[in-house]
Amino acid sequence: MSSAPVGPLGPVVRLAPAKLNLTLAVVGRRPDGYHLLHSVLVPLALADRISLAILPGERADRLHVTGFGAGPDRDNLVVRAIAEARAAAGGAAETPALAVRLEKRIPVAAGLGGGSSDAAAALDGALEAWGLGAGTPGDPGPAVRAEAAARLGSDVPFFLAGGTACVEGRGERVTPLPGVRGTPPGILLVTPRVLVPTADVFAVHAASGVPPNGATRLTSEHLAVELRDGLDSRRLADRAGILAAANDLLGATAILVQGLIAFRRALARLLGRPIGQSGSGPTLWVLYPSHGDAEAAARTVTSALAAGTLVGPGDGEPFVAATSITGGPPGPSVGNDTRSER
Ligand code: C5P
Repeated sequence: MSSAPVGPLGPVVRLAPAKLNLTLAVVGRRPDGYHLLHSVLVPLALADRISLAILPGERADRLHVTGFGAGPDRDNLVVRAIAEARAAAGGAAETPALAVRLEKRIPVAAGLGGGSSDAAAALDGALEAWGLGAGTPGDPGPAVRAEAAARLGSDVPFFLAGGTACVEGRGERVTPLPGVRGTPPGILLVTPRVLVPTADVFAVHAASGVPPNGATRLTSEHLAVELRDGLDSRRLADRAGILAAANDLLGATAILVQGLIAFRRALARLLGRPIGQSGSGPTLWVLYPSHGDAEAAARTVTSALAAGTLVGPGDGEPFVAATSITGGPPGPSVGNDTRSER
């Protein structure tokens, strides 16, 4: 009888959620150039889908990408995540080649963390496919997983942890928080068709020499305390105005994306709500007490775009989606084609 770990019988399937920064305070800079952050992050129902299946007898992994940003180079973070998973396995088991299918429903380079979320899901999913899932004898353990996630990117530790969290340091210090209580808050996302690399936004922010903004940090810290103590979706929606202003990268993104400020103002006039920006943008968010409210707003925005009374920056019509905040810790896997019988 072999003692080698056995992976699941079918493919491992994960949903890789988008994230939203409800706050983003830049509180300092590390000697290596990375910025120190204080940010409250929530996962969204909008998600990519990734499946990983063992390719018996093959030597090389295969990656097939559909949807946003599909192309040969776009998703090399998933390839890197699988390499990190192999290193984390550390010879504890065979790590056969994987066939990876990635359906990208989250716009790329948009401040929604899609690539980082895919990487976290690939890291975790590859280990499970090889029979090294959390709690198994060959599981490399949370510390090794977290270190691998931090090497992959600043947002990856948040996605690996799952759920609502306060993120500090460069992104590697993740403090889980309870999700928003009650009806999941609705979110309208409006993403102009402009790719905005995170590195460019931080570079402009650094060059502008703006000192850390104490007000943003206070708002961020206060929201973390409120969530810890229990905050429901209506009270969160009441805070939309202050949260929409609590992003220290707004100025830098506006320098990079011509017309973003005017578009934000036009959206605010159309919807009568505060408009926030997720992370380094250019995705704009509008917070509602429920998914139904966000859907109604999405229809309003889509009609205005179609009528030409609202025009977004960039090439083509913005991506518009109604989604919701999903606060709780994620399940280990999703989809009925996920089996873990041994
Ligand atoms: O960590 P990640 O590769 O996602 O970051 C992309 C770029 O964004 C970094 O190379 C860095 O220039 C910038 N960044 C930063 N401070 C952070 C996160 C990212 O300066 N906390």
